[in-house]
Amino acid sequence: MFAKEVYVRRRAELVRKMVAAGQKGILLFVGNVEAPAQYKDNCYKWRQDSSWLYYFGLDDPQYAATIDLEDGSETVFANDVEIGDIIWMGPQPSVASKAESVGVATSAPYAALDAVVAKAISQGRPVHFLPPSRYFNTMKLSALVPGGSPSEAFIKAVISMRLVKEACEIEALDDAGALGQEMHTVARNAIRPGIVEQEIVGLMEGVTLAKGWGVSFPTILTQHGETLHNHLHDKIVEPGKLMVIDAGAESNLHYASDYTRTYPTSGRFTTKQREVYQIVYDCNELAFSLTRPGVTYREVHLAVARKMLEGLSALGLVRGDLDEMTARGIAGLFQPHGLGHNMGLDVHDMEDLGEDLVGYDPDQKRASQLGLGSLRMARRLVPGHVITDEPGIYFIPALIEKWKSEGIGTDCVNFARLKDYYDFGGIRLEDDVLVTPDGARRLGPARLPIAPDDIENVMA
Ligand code: GLY
Repeated sequence: MFAKEVYVRRRAELVRKMVAAGQKGILLFVGNVEAPAQYKDNCYKWRQDSSWLYYFGLDDPQYAATIDLEDGSETVFANDVEIGDIIWMGPQPSVASKAESVGVATSAPYAALDAVVAKAISQGRPVHFLPPSRYFNTMKLSALVPGGSPSEAFIKAVISMRLVKEACEIEALDDAGALGQEMHTVARNAIRPGIVEQEIVGLMEGVTLAKGWGVSFPTILTQHGETLHNHLHDKIVEPGKLMVIDAGAESNLHYASDYTRTYPTSGRFTTKQREVYQIVYDCNELAFSLTRPGVTYREVHLAVARKMLEGLSALGLVRGDLDEMTARGIAGLFQPHGLGHNMGLDVHDMEDLGEDLVGYDPDQKRASQLGLGSLRMARRLVPGHVITDEPGIYFIPALIEKWKSEGIGTDCVNFARLKDYYDFGGIRLEDDVLVTPDGARRLGPARLPIAPDDIENVMA
């Protein structure tokens, strides 16, 4: 946890924002509860709700809280342990002392929440809550606030705070970055023909399990990188292939990292692999060089799309005016995803609060084009934003065939030549980036090797 003052200050700022927006009533926070995997005593790995962590820091199941926007009072609701709990889990600090550790003076049993919320409703006071990400909380909130819906004012106030990282969060993100980089280094060193992909995953995830909370999302490690989120790790590593590793750590403070590198399984790229790799590398570098306050990430995505088409044009895979092809979304055939997303306590930060509310400014509208339509972060950048820079080129036979059969891009896509790439796979290169007052810096202690020569050197 951070110091008590961090949570006190954040809650005060939240209340200030809500009151300034003319809101009244109470803010209702529900933390997560344990989720049974097979039966109630064998649960999925515990993970607290991120907005709860941000404002209350307490990393225990079945906590809730209210903040009264009118009198400023705060109450934490949770149950003290009983002898049965102590037998199985050991002694625990009291709820009152935990609440006090984050600056909340009043606590009550979890069940007391029902009456507090019911009273507010009976008085006609608004009860503001966030969209729940877990089914238990969906049910809990519909019982507490029948017919209620998440409060847009509350969502927007939370997003405005969590999007801009504080100094203590940036330090935590650098730590998560260090762990993520160590994971990738271990994985890269383990790549050799004959090893099963799963063994590399195990070695890599062991790093973050030993030093942090675990992975920040299910690991992607595959010789079929053309499948964007391939979670199958059952293949034996073959020579001459490309291996995409997209993985990150969640630190013990629950901040995320998210890196992707693509490696030649034999240690050296073939000419064809290097040509495509160089384009993706150039796109990653271009995105970073354009990332600074005042620029929208949508503009950066489009600049990357244009650069990608320029490189693909040099390979004879597309032909035509680069600006026109960019506007038509031709790059989406090769990169059917966005350039990046927000990152923080969640690897896709706050997407439970609404992807468009998090990633788009009020004057921006999400596109429907393949690729650009999947851009999760389009906003005008400000210092403190933390985003990923993750261009990729993928040769997805089913998608290429679909475009061909539907006559999409037939004037500019060289479908005949693309046939030679049907077994190529994919390449993605991803860094985590902090927007600074005068530009940007990559998170983590040192950049993972990425230039094609550096990759070959470290794999030699
Ligand atoms: N790196 C995985 C993702 O962004 O979804």
